[in-house]
Amino acid sequence: MRQAGRYMEVYRKLREKHTLLELCRDPELACEVTMQPIRRFDLDAAIIFSDILLPLEPLGVPFEFAKGEGPVIARPLRTKEDVDRLRAFDPREELGYVHEAIRLTVRALEGRVPLIGFCGAPFTLASYMIEGGSSRNYLHAKRMMYHQPETWNKLMETVSGVLAAHLEAQVEAGAEALQVFDSWVGALSPEDYREFVLPHSRAVLARARATGVPVIHFGTGTAGTLELLKEAGGDVIGVDWRIPLDEAWRRLGNDVGVQGNLDSVLLMAPAELLRKRVLDVLQRAGGRPGHIFNLGHGILPETPPESLDVVIETVRAFKP
Ligand code: CP3
Repeated sequence: MRQAGRYMEVYRKLREKHTLLELCRDPELACEVTMQPIRRFDLDAAIIFSDILLPLEPLGVPFEFAKGEGPVIARPLRTKEDVDRLRAFDPREELGYVHEAIRLTVRALEGRVPLIGFCGAPFTLASYMIEGGSSRNYLHAKRMMYHQPETWNKLMETVSGVLAAHLEAQVEAGAEALQVFDSWVGALSPEDYREFVLPHSRAVLARARATGVPVIHFGTGTAGTLELLKEAGGDVIGVDWRIPLDEAWRRLGNDVGVQGNLDSVLLMAPAELLRKRVLDVLQRAGGRPGHIFNLGHGILPETPPESLDVVIETVRAFKP
């Protein structure tokens, strides 16, 4: 999940001087930002400071992070011609700055905690490229699936190839685990997921697993598609707070780990309630090996850092 960011004063200070993309594209700055939460909190892993959208520009789909709006893609993909124009590129060249940031960060971490590399899943990236930004109904993306399945599949294949190579390069650079974020997969029915998305996610996850490092497959709103996400792949399935962790794990079975799943907004609650809900997640996991305690989605800018101290202390003190 996002670990660094605007909830930390040191990050906001640095952001006054640099845009988000500048931080991502400068390996020394990206390393510094990755280290900020590691210095401040007693965490078990670091995640490289980067973004799932960085492959868009070299694919030929420029975007920017607009203030208060999130990502904005100037010319969203809608037609076969748009998709034909996409450039399948070599991430080792065009995203080499991410891999360099990983090398620097592995050195800076001095073995204290492992470093997680990541990418977006094909559906979540394709939906940004087609919708032009965040979306409520994924109308344009679904329209392409239903009306132009060949164009849709070509887009998904192009994106998947780039993502898989990007993950492989991150492991070569020193990443010791990988996470694939299908943040907006909850927009899909099980039927659409199986038909239009699963084969492409499976291709990326298979190449990720072939690197030999553990792979976390994350989605939100996945109560309807949980088993299908597992079928697509991953050693660990990340779930959000909309499903009780024990129920998710029961459905997933014993041969897969589970990550999650505290509601990020609980970090805004009084410490007593927060502690209670952290314990509830831990009790549902019941101390079984293969549980990674985490938030159910990214950390919000409004989060008081002290709330994270409460969470971490509670997790560390827990005895099943
Ligand atoms: O914490 C870390 O060091 C890891 C860095 C990280 C970022 N993005 C940097 C970032 C990670 C793991 C991501 C993943 C990401 N990016 C996802 C998947 C996980 C998730 O949260 O669902 C998605 C969907 C994105 C796309 C994205 N990036 C959006 C929609 C936004 C804007 C929304 C917002 O919060 O403003 C971003 C911006 C972004 N990427 C920030 C960070 C820390 C926000 C901070 C800033 O603007 O300075």
